[in-house]
Amino acid sequence: MNVLVTGASGLLGRAIVKEFESHDWNVVGLAFSRSSPKLKKVDLRNPNEVKETIEKYQPSVVIHSAAERRADVVEQCPESVEKLNVFATTFIAQICATKKIPLIFISTNYVFDGKSPPYKPDDKPNPINKYGASKLNGEELTRAAHPGSIVLRVPLLFGPVENINECGGTYLYNYVRYSGNIKSVCHFQQRFPTHVNNVASVLRQMANKLYKGESFNGIFHWSSSEQHTKYTMTVCIAKSLGLSHKHILPRESPDAVTPRPHNVKLDISKTLDLGIQVVEIPFSKGIQECLEPFLSKKE
Ligand SMILES: NC(=O)c1ccc[n+]([C@@H]2O[C@H](COP(=O)([O-])OP(=O)(O)OC[C@H]3O[C@@H](n4cnc5c(N)ncnc54)[C@H](OP(=O)(O)O)[C@@H]3O)[C@@H](O)[C@H]2O)c1
Repeated sequence: MNVLVTGASGLLGRAIVKEFESHDWNVVGLAFSRSSPKLKKVDLRNPNEVKETIEKYQPSVVIHSAAERRADVVEQCPESVEKLNVFATTFIAQICATKKIPLIFISTNYVFDGKSPPYKPDDKPNPINKYGASKLNGEELTRAAHPGSIVLRVPLLFGPVENINECGGTYLYNYVRYSGNIKSVCHFQQRFPTHVNNVASVLRQMANKLYKGESFNGIFHWSSSEQHTKYTMTVCIAKSLGLSHKHILPRESPDAVTPRPHNVKLDISKTLDLGIQVVEIPFSKGIQECLEPFLSKKE
């Protein structure tokens, strides 16, 4: 049981490594700028490096989690991001197909336009920003190159962070802690903050099935059921930490420059039908644990 995880230094990748290691899998984690003695440095944009690595470790399963996922960054420079989100993804799929290695590609709910939730895996995608478009492109080329592959789409993720700005959920603590500043926070776009440990558990259960030779492929969804806006997430953070939220005001208009879909609730029934079982981590409990290290440091 040997899994190769790309993006192993990232928010989700770290949780995947932990989940698989704690369930007797041998993990080869790849990183780029945050490589370490434990995480091997591989630039996924370099096909030779990718091929050599997969040939060297001969994993039983590959989980491709690395991506540029900051929608604002992708909007600014879509061409350079394509090298990672599309070309590297396609190459990984081609190599895995040639070597008959099961592949799970992590994608996003942003492949949908958010106008008619909930979305089933076979519903027609229609991304409204360049990040969603790049991930959809990656999905389609992955499925074409490796028909046995799996795409797992997930929504906004949160989990243990290296700094509080690393994920959208923990970032909102900035609004809470500077209580002297009146802050209006988006109460328009609907979010489904999902703990990375829950996604990692889904992936590990899928990998176990693949390893045992169960045959399934195609597109799957995973999401927590809790529905929020950035405003309700911020209030939830304040309440869970026993802090005031009087200075936080709801704003009914969309956020920021990059367009984001209004409501991309994912229907997860196809994944549940596989027999995947997860105990959902509530946002208030999960986010409190993620922020705890920063509170004690009085950051
Ligand atoms: N976070 C979310 O809210 C969210 C929501 C929906 C879907 N997703 C999807 O979930 C997956 C994981 O996201 P995440 O939040 O864990 O992302 P992340 O924290 O931004 O991590 C990105 C990972 O990609 C690696 N990477 C970047 N450029 C690379 C390169 N040239 N070669 C090799 N590796 C490279 C990074 O390595 P270094 O840091 O070491 O450079 C890092 O490990 C992505 O596919 C994303 O599209 C995320």
